[in-house]
Amino acid sequence: MKCSDDFVFGTATASYQIEGAANEDGRCPSIWDTFSHTGHTVNGDTGDVATDSYHRYKEDIALLKDLGVDSYRFSIAMPRIMPTDGGPVNEKGVDFYSRVVDELLEAGIKPCATVYHWDLPQYLGDKGGWQNRDTAWRVADYACVMGERLGDRVDTWITVNEPWCVSYLSYGGTEQAPGLGGGPAAFETVHHVNLAHGLIAQALRGEVKDDAKIAVTLNLQVNRGDADAVHRTDLIANRVFLDPMLRGYYPNELFAVTKGICDWDFVKDGDLDLIHQPIDMLGLNYYSTGLVTMSGRPQFPQSTEASVFPGCSDIDWLPTEGPHTEMGWNIDPNGLYDLLVRLHDDYPEYPLFITENGMACPDRLVEEADPETGASVKAVHDADRVDYLTRHFDAARRAMEAGVPLTGYYVWSLLDNFEWAFGYTKRFGITYVDYETQERTPKDSFKWYRRLIASRELPVL
Ligand code: BGC
Ligand code: BGC
Repeated sequence: MKCSDDFVFGTATASYQIEGAANEDGRCPSIWDTFSHTGHTVNGDTGDVATDSYHRYKEDIALLKDLGVDSYRFSIAMPRIMPTDGGPVNEKGVDFYSRVVDELLEAGIKPCATVYHWDLPQYLGDKGGWQNRDTAWRVADYACVMGERLGDRVDTWITVNEPWCVSYLSYGGTEQAPGLGGGPAAFETVHHVNLAHGLIAQALRGEVKDDAKIAVTLNLQVNRGDADAVHRTDLIANRVFLDPMLRGYYPNELFAVTKGICDWDFVKDGDLDLIHQPIDMLGLNYYSTGLVTMSGRPQFPQSTEASVFPGCSDIDWLPTEGPHTEMGWNIDPNGLYDLLVRLHDDYPEYPLFITENGMACPDRLVEEADPETGASVKAVHDADRVDYLTRHFDAARRAMEAGVPLTGYYVWSLLDNFEWAFGYTKRFGITYVDYETQERTPKDSFKWYRRLIASRELPVL
């Protein structure tokens, strides 16, 4: 299937995962600097250097140009823009992103900027982070600055990346910064992140050019198994974001199933109107599916222990069928198809786009003779990643043929990078990064993607 000219092929990254330069040009620490420097990551890895893209952004954009993408999704680090609590905008930080945007435009690539991809300034973390309602307003103030400075040049804006991770994984569980492990206490952070989404969208709308698109990126769970367990996890993990953002309400059933662990009294009059802002598209990060079952334990009283799934203490997660990626995530392209079709059925007025999809592989850099010139060259033969991407692009094509308005697809990631709590041990890039030398080597998947983009033909399996 040939894609229309306006279908957007891209790749994605995020500031803390690639930039490095943690102490340069006035950047302040973020909650991820703190978390990674206090023993919460594999090998004690941090984003201090990462792929050094703060200094090498021109080289990275040259890679993007060679790849032929229509668009590049990157995120802006609030710690570079607002490095002090209540202080002035840091112009050096703004200049960096302004140069990135100009360099992209010069290369003919549309910038897609994520406002919040997890690097909250530590000074906001010190005031409770996402447990503090005011954080939503502070992040929106910074979004307003970015809209003002870059709004004439950025094509697509994403308010928040993966609210599920920002709230449940970080405040319900201990996996991500700040790792508070409060179980049901995460519901309050869910609401504050929802508020931030709405406030950021509103702030951007007032600043950016008329034809810029504003979206949010959700990592919705696609669970399979017992209908009751699937329904409950959908409510807690998905509809808790989808319904307020796209419909302007929290489902009543959500209040019923969280009885005893959350009274939702942090939802104030007018909040749902703030959250329910007009947006142009819904972005999806898709990697894998889960398998759930009712355990037979009673639902009440519910556990108040650390959990990324509060309100689900009567549900068990079962091992999924393989094959699995290096992350241990199962490979299930039909999950992407099902997700796209379901969202189009339930929220038909929103165009969809895939803001992340990709896989971690145990990639190996090899030196070999170039088949054409005989010269020694470096290569990474990541056949599994090519297969994964082929199958997911095929699933996206099937969804489009079934009528889903899919407008674009960003592969995660342009580069191997700092994979959060897993540090540098998991490689998601279509470009290999040697962390000793910072040398970039396009993998086979890069070359495969370049051919796909050049043909604009989606695979048919
Ligand atoms: C919110 C506060 C916030 C303030 C910002 C209020 O509506 O409840 O938390 O700090 O607006 O002006
Ligand atoms: C995040 C990325 C992350 C990727 C792979 C998403 O959860 O947005 O930052 O690297 O998935 O885990």
